[in-house]
Amino acid sequence: MKAMVYYGAGDIRFEDKPKPQIIDPTDAVVRITKTTICGTDLGIWKGKNPEVAQGRILGHEGIGIVEEVGSAVKNIKVGDKVIVSCVSKCCSCDNCKQQLYSHCRNGGWILGYMIDGTQAEFVRTPYADNSLIPLPENVNEEVALLLSDVLPTSHEIGVQYGDVRPGDTVFIAGAGPIGMGALLTAQLYSPAAIIVCDLDENRLKMAKEMGATHTVNPISGDISKQVFDIVGSDGVDVAIEAVGMPATWDMCQDIVKPGGHLAVVGVHGKPVDFKLEKLWIKNLKISTGLVNTNTTEMLLKAVASGSVDYTKMLTHHFKFTQMAEAYDAFKHAAENNALKIVLTAD
Ligand SMILES: NC(=O)c1ccc[n+]([C@@H]2O[C@H](COP(=O)([O-])OP(=O)(O)OC[C@H]3O[C@@H](n4cnc5c(N)ncnc54)[C@H](O)[C@@H]3O)[C@@H](O)[C@H]2O)c1
Ligand SMILES: [Zn+2]
Ligand SMILES: [Zn+2]
Repeated sequence: MKAMVYYGAGDIRFEDKPKPQIIDPTDAVVRITKTTICGTDLGIWKGKNPEVAQGRILGHEGIGIVEEVGSAVKNIKVGDKVIVSCVSKCCSCDNCKQQLYSHCRNGGWILGYMIDGTQAEFVRTPYADNSLIPLPENVNEEVALLLSDVLPTSHEIGVQYGDVRPGDTVFIAGAGPIGMGALLTAQLYSPAAIIVCDLDENRLKMAKEMGATHTVNPISGDISKQVFDIVGSDGVDVAIEAVGMPATWDMCQDIVKPGGHLAVVGVHGKPVDFKLEKLWIKNLKISTGLVNTNTTEMLLKAVASGSVDYTKMLTHHFKFTQMAEAYDAFKHAAENNALKIVLTAD
């Protein structure tokens, strides 16, 4: 089978690999019908994760048809159409028992990282009963692809940890796939205002089309001033940091109101300046985290209801055999106005 394989920083190759086999009785093998590329895959390609073994198949998002199941798999059947969750969960370790599936002692985020992933014609998925989600016929398959990772991540770590409530004012730093996912899933809670911030005017235009009430750009001046002009000088109820840079952390800590929530989704590679001397008095909640995928089924129902249009996230389409071209398009996502790229099996 063909797959996208990692060989070290800057070296990924679309090449032949053996078809995966069942190893543990709780495994399934899924024939991938649609997959996509995540910023994290680009991070691995850039060499940010030297712990990834050479020869590893990339990818942790996908939709497919179950090809084979291990002897202990009870609920998932051969022929089922499924969403592959980016998190594999055993559901029996101490962390899983607290719904902290991202820290599953026997799984967590391993696909396309510690074990071979979904940018392939077939993938082996551990703990199939817990980590594959049957996909109903009435759900758009391409939108369902967003349920492997991007929508649960932005919903759980951004919107839910940020405790977005009806009537709230919400600030989202970053209009990449994660910021846009937060923008879309925040709308499930009817906030009064959603202000999206990015340096890229094209992405801000897309954010407006996806439901942002306001957009702000640091290039136009101080973000605190721009946000206070919109919501008043107390600031916003919820600030969601979806970039992962000191500058956007600073914006968020400067504009969140007393009693508010600051939810960090961005992966930070550098230390930030934590202004505790200003924050201590604010009765804030600050959260961080890695997706648990404990809201995937709930989001599947929300997506099926059609109350929010998720299709605008799906900006580019390629055939599976065009994997290298798709990576090229996504490497230059901003210039190409790319958010999520759909790769469909030929
Ligand atoms: N916590 C998790 O589980 C999790 C999961 C996936 C991704 N992430 C992280 O979320 C972050 C966003 O991911 P993404 O895929 O949307 O990334 P992305 O690179 O596509 O988007 C980031 C956006 O931030 C904007 N930006 C950069 N500097 C800025 C600044 N100073 N002010 C305003 N905007 C600025 C860029 O223009 C870009 O549009 C990354 O740090 C990623 O690693 C976290
Ligand atoms: Zn991802
Ligand atoms: Zn576990």
